[in-house]
Amino acid sequence: MKKVLVTGGTGYIGSHTVVELLNAGREVIIIDNFSNSKPEVLEKIKQITGKDVKFYNIDYLNREEVEKVFEENEIESVINFAGYKAVGESVKEPLKYYHNNVSGAIILLETMQKYNVKKFIFSSSATVYGAQGNGKCVETMKRGETTNPYGTTKSMIEKILEDMYLADNSWNIAILRYFNPVGAHESGLIGEDPQGIPNNLMPFIMKVANKEIPQLNIFGNDYKETEDGTCARDFIHVVDLAIGHIKMLEKLDKENSGIFVYNLGTGKPYTVQQMVDTFIKVNNIDVPYKYAERRDGDLPVLYSDPTKAKQELGWVATRTLEDMCRDSWNYVLKGKWVNEKCFNCIKRLKNWRDWKISNYINQIFKRKWIWHYTCFRRKRRRIIKKSR
Ligand SMILES: NC(=O)c1ccc[n+]([C@@H]2O[C@H](COP(=O)([O-])OP(=O)(O)OC[C@H]3O[C@@H](n4cnc5c(N)ncnc54)[C@H](O)[C@@H]3O)[C@@H](O)[C@H]2O)c1
Repeated sequence: MKKVLVTGGTGYIGSHTVVELLNAGREVIIIDNFSNSKPEVLEKIKQITGKDVKFYNIDYLNREEVEKVFEENEIESVINFAGYKAVGESVKEPLKYYHNNVSGAIILLETMQKYNVKKFIFSSSATVYGAQGNGKCVETMKRGETTNPYGTTKSMIEKILEDMYLADNSWNIAILRYFNPVGAHESGLIGEDPQGIPNNLMPFIMKVANKEIPQLNIFGNDYKETEDGTCARDFIHVVDLAIGHIKMLEKLDKENSGIFVYNLGTGKPYTVQQMVDTFIKVNNIDVPYKYAERRDGDLPVLYSDPTKAKQELGWVATRTLEDMCRDSWNYVLKGKWVNEKCFNCIKRLKNWRDWKISNYINQIFKRKWIWHYTCFRRKRRRIIKKSR
């Protein structure tokens, strides 16, 4: 069977897409270097689908290794999720972003060309629209000014793909512009696992609800353009987004060649306040928040016109804001989202047996505090020993 190569397939959107690809009967190969994901995801994918995935732990910047993957497998199409995505970090370390995202994509495309694989789906972003019009983004609009190097990498790769198609129109390319992916698989086994202080709203809410961060700042509550004065965005459930890739692949299968651009969003903007209130309501949990000053560069409203995807791909996002909030929190509750403070404590434990015991207890009680408690006991033991 012809195979789909998924770069970044153990990441947030990649892992959900791999699940949907396997459910749709596709054979999948993943490339990932775990720079922003964990090996356990592979086991979870198998648990959800009951199917195996061939995996290569490699950096997609490594041309020889990527070529080996094409040598060893009959690859028919490629979905490229690999890349860095932290906007703030991209401002501080632009070269890191241009190198990984743009050079990585070029190496991947050159390898595809060498092995005559020309079906390609690229993970782009609503950020390429920049600040235009009234916040509603339609594919016919030109790309706007990006406001950070991360956004610029997306814009640059889109342009590279257009130029490539101009030079060789046998390519079959899809550019998917995602709006704001949130939520998790309903099993609670896979989801978003951000390290440190998250950039995006939902992971931030999850960390506040999980008591890892004391409170959420809502930046600006005096925007005239929205009902409650907070910014509005087009949040989309990650499983709907993943299904969008399956529909896209089906379209590319039917086309001989072309370059296609689609928005993947719900078309319904929800405000930050609505998101927070819904999360509190559906999960019956406290999320302390306060209003803060507006942030520079934040647009009041940004949302998609998803009509083209509906008409041409037969794709519509069906999951609601309630589903997004419930599934995100379910992922935390299922205990797969490790409380980082506790995780750091565990890492400090030298004794593997102690770690296993604390993990075992944690599995039983599904309570993160038990790890803190274990650390506390070890510390106390050490102090008592010293004082003797
Ligand atoms: N999550 C969003 O809000 C969002 C929105 C728009 C676009 N996107 C784009 O979608 C794609 C996937 O996003 P995500 O949220 O799943 O991100 P993610 O960080 O969870 O997944 C990216 C994966 O790529 C891997 N990776 C990074 N560099 C690599 C390299 N050099 N070699 C091999 N693997 C590498 C990481 O380990 C990670 O598993 C990214 O390109 C991102 O820019 C994401």
